Amino acid sequence: MREKVLTQEELKKQVGIEAAKYVKNEMIVGLGTGSTANYMIDELGRKIKEEHLKIIGVTTSKATSKQAQALGIPLKAIDEVEYVDLTIDSADEISENFHGIKGGGGALLFEKIVASYSRQYIWIVDESKLVKQLGAFPLPVEVVKYGAKQLYRFFENKGYHPHFRTTNEGKKFITDSGNYIIDLHLEVIANPIILGEELDKFVGVVEHGLFLNMVNKVIVGTKKGLRTYSN
Ligand code: A5P
Repeated sequence: MREKVLTQEELKKQVGIEAAKYVKNEMIVGLGTGSTANYMIDELGRKIKEEHLKIIGVTTSKATSKQAQALGIPLKAIDEVEYVDLTIDSADEISENFHGIKGGGGALLFEKIVASYSRQYIWIVDESKLVKQLGAFPLPVEVVKYGAKQLYRFFENKGYHPHFRTTNEGKKFITDSGNYIIDLHLEVIANPIILGEELDKFVGVVEHGLFLNMVNKVIVGTKKGLRTYSN
């Protein structure tokens, strides 16, 4: 009998459920944002109800807070905990050396803050997110509103092909912190470390979506089964 080929959505669900196995009783857990992380959060909600798992969640976006609250996951703000035991999140691209681009959903700032205070950090992705080199996915840069057009022009002059992120209604996208996002269409990022350092220095840039040397483990859903890589 021929094996059923899993869809991308099924792979996301599989990695979400797999990652939830790393969550143990009494942990403080960073809850990522996005369609893959949603499956992991649903699974934690199920475990809380059916298996009496006891955890505290720290969310990375308003959307995740809403989902977690609906599932009855007890939450604390990042400033109310000393550290986070484990954060599980997804990514938009992961390169061979475990660097990543995040922020496709616009939650990069809180995601990076929560990840920075986490003892363990796991990414869960379907195999379409694995790339040789970062850059085909537009790099999100969160910027304050004041002077955003100046930054845009600056990026344009540097050849970074910037685009203000917009909503379906054509308005500028506003992050949970009230900022804009400028997506840089770079195609290839030859040296993510140098670009990250450069972006860190621009006045008005709040954060960028390069997550470099942060992740400890990557769980990948592939059509041939789950793969787990440790960094
Ligand atoms: C949210 O801002 C992002 O960093 C997400 O983690 C990333 O975009 C992956 O999202 P999906 O799981 O929906 O692909």
